Amino acid sequence: MKKTLVTIICLALAFAAQAQDRIELIHGPYLQDIGTTEATVVWIASTNSVGWVELAPDDGSHFYETERPKYFDSRNGIKTESRVHSVKITGLKPGTTYRYRVFSTEITEHKANFVSYGRTASTRVFQKEPLRLTTLDPEKESVSFAMLNDMHGDTLKLEKLIGYCDMAKTDMVLFVGDMVSIFNSEEQVFSGFMDKATEIFAAEKPVFYTRGNHETRGELAYCFQDYFSPSKEHIYYMFRQGPVCFIALDSGEDKPDSDIEYSGINVYDEYRSEQAEWLKKAVQSEEFRTAPFKIVTCHVPAMGGWHGEKEVKEKFIPILNEAGVDIMLTGHLHRRMHRNAGDDGVNFPVLVNSSEDVLQCTVSGQELKIRIVDLQGKTVDTLTIKK
Ligand SMILES: [Fe+2]
Repeated sequence: MKKTLVTIICLALAFAAQAQDRIELIHGPYLQDIGTTEATVVWIASTNSVGWVELAPDDGSHFYETERPKYFDSRNGIKTESRVHSVKITGLKPGTTYRYRVFSTEITEHKANFVSYGRTASTRVFQKEPLRLTTLDPEKESVSFAMLNDMHGDTLKLEKLIGYCDMAKTDMVLFVGDMVSIFNSEEQVFSGFMDKATEIFAAEKPVFYTRGNHETRGELAYCFQDYFSPSKEHIYYMFRQGPVCFIALDSGEDKPDSDIEYSGINVYDEYRSEQAEWLKKAVQSEEFRTAPFKIVTCHVPAMGGWHGEKEVKEKFIPILNEAGVDIMLTGHLHRRMHRNAGDDGVNFPVLVNSSEDVLQCTVSGQELKIRIVDLQGKTVDTLTIKK
């Protein structure tokens, strides 16, 4: 009897050890950099691996009907050996839904030109519906989005606020900074908000991230773009969905670069100047000029006397003042504020979303509507801009 028990325990331990060694997808997949003809899928595996995405049309066929095209995580013709994977898929049709699944195959050894592979992990399509992504469509008549900011790692708050949004009718979600208090580790980022976001929407809904000042801090801060906007040239960017052209600006840190808190690691004055040069060209682009509505997101508002706020006011606002912007959506101050067009030398309205509210926005026809919903699910304010 005793011998049988010892055998069972040994087998269980061996099985547990083996299971632990097995490659797993530990975070994601989630969508990034969704465009009209492209999409990027990001996920994290438990060990160094090669990764790829299989894509199938959303045409009712079984995912297993045929071999689906594979898009590898690769750079300069070599498959990336990493735990962090991002795959950019191009050549897609605008406003079109596709089904996808992701794979990672463990690399057990890479010596000279010999590579050995271990097990493979993937998302499920057998017992579970495959994941879906939908490309953006500038011809779409309306757009709806939710906006969150300053969650500072509070997943319960994120879940509660998103719970008040009708996600079936929401095209995308905007994160406007300070989703964590410090970008110190993968664990902190994913347990802080991204695992929950993936579980609720980010595997199938586009998420557009405007970095806040807190994501600029910490040991992993310089790797921010490995996880968010990995296919974009910069983490400030522009995109069009339906009648709206969105510009996401990165306001960087709030204190001068030389502040003791930053230990000499920051060069945000230079970065904001470089960004202003990009912004001048962006607002002159046809994509921006022809959009019926123009929305700008920026974590730090151009209010108050802190260095970051003054930099936004001096470097970004003069360009935006001439660009026909309909509204700027910001955060950072942890309180609800609304400035009208013309206030503080800013030619367009500025909405500061608090850390306790979610913005629910719809733009349709000649109207932009924003509902501000608090943690109790109560609509505390609304804002309408008519053309
Ligand atoms: Fe902030």
